[in-house]
Amino acid sequence: MKILISSETISAKLKQTGDYISKKYKDGNLLLVGILKGSFVFLADLARNITIPCEIGFMGTQSYIGTHSSGEVRITLDLQQNIADYNVVVAEDIIDSGNTLKAIADILRARNPKSLEIITLLDKPDRRETDIQADRVLFTISDEFVVGYGLDYNEKYRNLPYIAIIEE
Ligand code: IMP
Ligand code: MG
Repeated sequence: MKILISSETISAKLKQTGDYISKKYKDGNLLLVGILKGSFVFLADLARNITIPCEIGFMGTQSYIGTHSSGEVRITLDLQQNIADYNVVVAEDIIDSGNTLKAIADILRARNPKSLEIITLLDKPDRRETDIQADRVLFTISDEFVVGYGLDYNEKYRNLPYIAIIEE
């Protein structure tokens, strides 16, 4: 296991991101949406760096088997809030092919939120299959399979406090 991004580096970036969100959305209803399961750690830490009132929601998708995206995205869990009155900020763990984010963004946009912003912890731009772009990327990485800080390899390693590369 090789550490790619340390917990200290992640914390510093989350502080900045929390400040940015807290300033930008101080005058509206903020709904932070985590995409399960991968973003659960990111969402929890980001939420604790936000200093304005906010609600938390979750969506679930499934698209990934082993280390290869199947290209098809299934919604397995949906929001309870009607998002029309909310500034929605989506917290995604990683954008790889972009298929998951595209599906989520299309669904949420069709519900006409006051605003929609997509923040991703990690971006692997080399692997993109769609033209989707996050509004804010915390870390851009090269085409390597990473685990930890919510991200898994066959459901393992989500609990690591840093982001790492598995060395076979
Ligand atoms: P996409 O639809 O191909 O953009 O990827 C969607 C999902 O695949 C992400 O939300 C992750 O859960 C998972 N994923 C993509 N790359 C990695 C990785 O390097 N490690 C762990 N999970 C990944
Ligand atoms: Mg995910």
